[in-house]
Amino acid sequence: MSCSFNLKNISYKNDTKHLFSNINLDVGHEQKVAIIGSNGAGKSSLLKIIAGLESNYEGELHLFHNKISSKKEYERFRSDIGYLPQDVSDFFLCPTVIEDVMFNLRCRGEKKEEAYTKALVILEQLNIVHLKDRIIYDLSGGEQKIVAIAGILITKPKILLLDEPTNALDSSSEQKIIELLNSINKSMVIVSHHKSFIEKLAPTIYELKSNGLKLI
Ligand SMILES: Nc1ncnc2c1ncn2[C@@H]1O[C@H](COP(=O)(O)OP(=O)(O)OP(=O)(O)O)[C@@H](O)[C@H]1O
Ligand SMILES: [Mg+2]
Repeated sequence: MSCSFNLKNISYKNDTKHLFSNINLDVGHEQKVAIIGSNGAGKSSLLKIIAGLESNYEGELHLFHNKISSKKEYERFRSDIGYLPQDVSDFFLCPTVIEDVMFNLRCRGEKKEEAYTKALVILEQLNIVHLKDRIIYDLSGGEQKIVAIAGILITKPKILLLDEPTNALDSSSEQKIIELLNSINKSMVIVSHHKSFIEKLAPTIYELKSNGLKLI
């Protein structure tokens, strides 16, 4: 099986406590996997390890069959990874919705007009065109979450790492996200407390325990 990434015997302790050990996970090309677990189990920490934001772990991370041993090695693949943090309040770099979504393409060298057109398309897909010119920090938490998802999807990453993508969304927005993510053929890891949500998205669900991932 062609693998997007593999975790081999990952153990992690943060400044205060040992969170987990014996984490083994192979996520194949376009495979969708969900991770659930109690508050504080370390789900967000595990996602940060896969996203290359936490390097203080033991074990091995492989991206596209390449062992990643340093932050420098991770950089080669960073644009292939779309990471949605659990808290998106620090996520945005531009004042308005359209500017911020466009910025993800502008910083990769796309022309303004092309970036604008693509940003409008993604806002339409997510049903948030009406938010186009709003100041992001005036938006509700749920609206900000959808804008953040738009900013990730527009760059067409190969792997999506989504930490609680629907935790502030109403049921109609949640349904929109389910339809969108179901229509996207990419490798994905989705962390969520909403079992009914992830059951509609990911055929493979693991629970994060301190001694490993348990298939549910
Ligand atoms: N930078 C940090 N320094 C110290 N402790 C931290 C740090 N980040 C997280 N923690 C602690 O590590 C534990 C795991 O946090 P993490 O956010 O990974 O859990 P989680 O499973 O995502 O929880 P939740 O379901 O509440 O989102 C928690 O007890 C948290 O307080
Ligand atoms: Mg978390």
